[in-house]
Amino acid sequence: MKRVGGKSFLASALLGASLVQADPQSICATDNICFSIAVPTSSASSNSGNIYFQLKAPTTYSWVALGTGSQMAGSNIFVMYQDGKGNVTISPRLGTAHSQPQWDQSSTAARLTLLAGSGVADGTMTANVACANCESWNGGDMSLQGTSVPWISAWRTGSSLATTNKGASISQHGGSDHTGFNIDLTTATISSDSNPFLASRNTVDGNGSGSGSGSGSGSGSGGNGITLARGNPNAATILAAHGIIGALVMAVLYPLGSLLMPLLGRWWAHGAWQVITFCLMWAAFGLGVQSAKDRNMLFTQSHTILGTVVIALFGIQPALGYIHHRQYVQTQNRGPVSYVHIWLGRILMLLGIINGGLGLQLAQERSELVIAYSVVAGIIFLCYILAKAFTVLGAQRANRIRSHKEANIPSNRRPYQESRRHNGRYA
Ligand code: HEM
Ligand code: HEM
Ligand code: HEM
Repeated sequence: MKRVGGKSFLASALLGASLVQADPQSICATDNICFSIAVPTSSASSNSGNIYFQLKAPTTYSWVALGTGSQMAGSNIFVMYQDGKGNVTISPRLGTAHSQPQWDQSSTAARLTLLAGSGVADGTMTANVACANCESWNGGDMSLQGTSVPWISAWRTGSSLATTNKGASISQHGGSDHTGFNIDLTTATISSDSNPFLASRNTVDGNGSGSGSGSGSGSGSGGNGITLARGNPNAATILAAHGIIGALVMAVLYPLGSLLMPLLGRWWAHGAWQVITFCLMWAAFGLGVQSAKDRNMLFTQSHTILGTVVIALFGIQPALGYIHHRQYVQTQNRGPVSYVHIWLGRILMLLGIINGGLGLQLAQERSELVIAYSVVAGIIFLCYILAKAFTVLGAQRANRIRSHKEANIPSNRRPYQESRRHNGRYA
């Protein structure tokens, strides 16, 4: 059996073990979520009629779905969940967008029949299904003789939905808990138009059920008709790098770099720190764009849109900082550019921190991680505000004392002052 991983996306785990030619084609999306697909020769030759498929997964999943198409939008989706009575419910749904596919109750809906062998036993849900009209649906079609037919799948861990309601509400899968693959249906043909899964247990696995050993091939395509449709094998690492660098930049490095200004009063220390952070930000952006491409969600979510706007606006910050510095050296005063630099910087840091939270939410990260991120970001931002408040108050106090003292010294005897800090303002 083949395996395509969601998280690991391990094409490598294409366990080439036990496929018998001209039998149902089988593929595992994870270690324990597996699908089989079969097309009777009669259906293949007329390009219409029954096809058969099987979904098999542990009861630790709330739902598991298979679908025809290459992405959610426009796919014909079949969702399996427990019915609460020892069997499973199979729900035909249409994918329209990155949102919950709704139960298709129209006359063109997939006509699905649960066959013998379906049910819940030994902690495993099995749906053996016949579909009478899966060659086309509202939004797409597939050739039953196709040599590279795209399929998708997704899954979600959680408690049993325990319902026979085909319109039951399902929760979103995790960011990596879906996959896609292409099947050469001409290698999935069966001679008789009947439930192939009862018999195929014996044929395919010979000595029992699917513990299948077999070694990973390391390639995205196998010899027996199933290939990964898409999927970057490094997708999970790229996303992790994007999340870690992006969060560090927005929640830690930019605020610390801003803190350096009132704390040290050295424009070059602040500038150098922020420019290094700026480079890291663009690295996170590149990794984010790649992650979004991997997930087919470039500019379709508020996280990717807001992130792009925030990062683009950060793009002008170094120039504004430098312009401010030049003109401050000349005039010893802040100009409009200074205020834009300071306030744009503060607003963008806040938006960037919020966007990191949106990213964690989108990736369905554990709540502990979201809390840890919020706490760290909150503490660092608070330090920045407090340090700023203290230096401003301190500078005001020093000015008051100085002007008080100076008022008592004749003007021709006041000391000459050349300082980097002027009333809490910096060059
Ligand atoms: C509540 C239900 C669902 C919601 C809210 C939802 C939402 C999303 C979102 C936001 C994405 C893009 C981000 C990501 O990669 O995680 C996505 C991708 C994907 N989802 Fe879903 N999904 C749902 C159910 C399903 C089901 C039942 C399937 C069944 C096959 C599925 C298959 C996929 C696939 C294959 C992708 C990647 C390809 C694409 O972008 O369309 N999803 N989904
Ligand atoms: C302010 C800038 C940004 C920050 C701080 C940020 C941060 C994050 C974080 C912390 C995650 C969660 C990662 C994980 O849990 O593994 C994430 C996910 C993600 N980010 Fe960003 N990000 C930013 C901008 C962007 C941009 C500009 C894009 C793409 C154009 C992008 C694309 C993504 C994608 C695709 C995900 C994964 C969502 C999923 O798994 O469904 N991010 N981001
Ligand atoms: C992306 C890069 C940058 C960001 C996000 C940024 C952000 C900020 C922020 C938030 C402040 C206000 C600090 C405060 O509250 O006192 C500030 C002040 C300042 N920045 Fe930047 N900065 C960046 C790059 C630069 C560069 C490259 C320079 C110089 C070449 C520079 C020069 C200054 C100076 C001189 C101030 C003090 C302004 C004043 O208080 O009158 N900045 N910056």
